[in-house]
Amino acid sequence: MKIRVLGSAAGGGFPQWNCNCRNCSGVRNGTLRASARTQSSIAVCGNDPSQWALVNASPDILAQLKASPVLQPARAPRDSAIVAIVLVDAQIDHTAGLFMLRESHRPLAIWCTDNAHTDLTRGNPIFGVLSYFCGIERRVMTPDGRVFGVDEVEGVEWRALAVASKPAPYSPHRDAPLPGDNVALVIRDRHTRQGAVYAPGLGSMEPALWQAMQEAACVLVDGTFWSDDEMIAQGLSRKRGRDMGHLPQSGAEGMLQWLAKLPPATRRILIHVNNTNPILDEDSPERAELTRCGIEVAWDGMEIDL
Ligand code: MLT
Ligand code: MN
Ligand code: ZN
Repeated sequence: MKIRVLGSAAGGGFPQWNCNCRNCSGVRNGTLRASARTQSSIAVCGNDPSQWALVNASPDILAQLKASPVLQPARAPRDSAIVAIVLVDAQIDHTAGLFMLRESHRPLAIWCTDNAHTDLTRGNPIFGVLSYFCGIERRVMTPDGRVFGVDEVEGVEWRALAVASKPAPYSPHRDAPLPGDNVALVIRDRHTRQGAVYAPGLGSMEPALWQAMQEAACVLVDGTFWSDDEMIAQGLSRKRGRDMGHLPQSGAEGMLQWLAKLPPATRRILIHVNNTNPILDEDSPERAELTRCGIEVAWDGMEIDL
């Protein structure tokens, strides 16, 4: 099984179009040692290197495809290696890219929970709009940890676990999240039995997810904010990270404390990094702390073989 990080930034990307925070200005002006990053997505393949599942459809999908020749095998006049799509939630940064795939010559096979399906049918009716183009073929994903196979991607076993985070603002229960609004994906190679956990939105740790993280060879987890009040301290928002469904890295019960408790051999990677997060600055003390703890920061184009 191979995982390719297509987009390692949170919603907005890095730099964000209208943001002049220290990080965004610095990367724009070339005065900060940091790499630009596109919005949140990974791709997964199993036995066949020309069959990939796209996990989340980022608003930056076209740039991500351009940067990933492996996803464009060009076997026919119209062709793509993306054979299925799996969504962890219905947020804009994970779904707006679906519009960009409307030229598909067959309906898009999309795995998502009922909650995400409702939001993408009503609050933000992307699925309805796509019915005027390629259409979608919805595949039900239950957030209960049951094993499923994404048929088109052989050799990979999938599970979706409900996580405490936040549904999109256009969800009718934005402020009272329900199980299935956001999931973590647990993916495992059927042959090597090596697995990974992908959880770009994770508001608090829960037993089933923690169990899966301890069993995984690699975890790609919520790296949105370094501190809970990061957006407030920079004058950019009134909300705390936890209010937005993202567990910060620092502080009591923060992500670093959790990651420190994983078995020593586990590969630890932060993903879905917000542009305000000081870990993007490769010369920051926060980044140095990650390095000391053996924690990596995902980058666009990063590949993981399991
Ligand atoms: C989130 O992860 O909290 C959302 O994707 C934020 C957004 O809408 O960009
Ligand atoms: Mn997001
Ligand atoms: Zn910024």
